[in-house]
Amino acid sequence: MIEINTEELQNKYWTTFWSENIDDLIEMSKKIGDIIPSRKNSTALYDSLTVKTKEETNQKSLSAKYGEKDFPYHTDGAYLHTPPKFVILRSPKSIENCPTKLCIPHFSEIEIKKMMKDVLLVNGGRGRFYSTLIEKINKDFRIRFDVDCMRPALNEFDTSIKLMNTLIKEAVIEEINWEENQCIIFNNWKLVHSRANATNKFDRVLERIWIK
Ligand SMILES: [Fe+2]
Repeated sequence: MIEINTEELQNKYWTTFWSENIDDLIEMSKKIGDIIPSRKNSTALYDSLTVKTKEETNQKSLSAKYGEKDFPYHTDGAYLHTPPKFVILRSPKSIENCPTKLCIPHFSEIEIKKMMKDVLLVNGGRGRFYSTLIEKINKDFRIRFDVDCMRPALNEFDTSIKLMNTLIKEAVIEEINWEENQCIIFNNWKLVHSRANATNKFDRVLERIWIK
């Protein structure tokens, strides 16, 4: 049975745990919420993420633009009207020197207000719509940040993106150095993540599940 520290997930927005196979992980994920297939017209419940060179991919993905280089910090599924709330990652093997990085930016009240005002156009191939970097949901807020599918609707609105990049630089970064069967679950509305440089890491495989 898979055990998750739900208190830690709630308070720290991420937690690590272990699963020996993807099927158990899928079953556990269904108890947390509905699984969202990440690809258009797909019903796959999980993705296998591999390191690709730019030449190997022609899709509209981060690999297409960055290849093996560092990915910028981002929200998964930022191009969806509602990005997945939780992301689960599992590494079937240990991976050396290629961590996944988690970053929880800290916002002041003024910064939150600023980021709820600047309008950005989201266009990631699932329809174009306007959004802000911080969106209010009930009494809380969620982050939507991905410079590859979001651009300022007006030039002056790029200050939000600059501000977010500054806050990411100032934040404490948690590095996940993957061990065999290690999993993480994180709140995709509250933290942004990235992958370190993965040059020649062609055996790096992460399984990923998105939860509504
Ligand atoms: Fe991602």
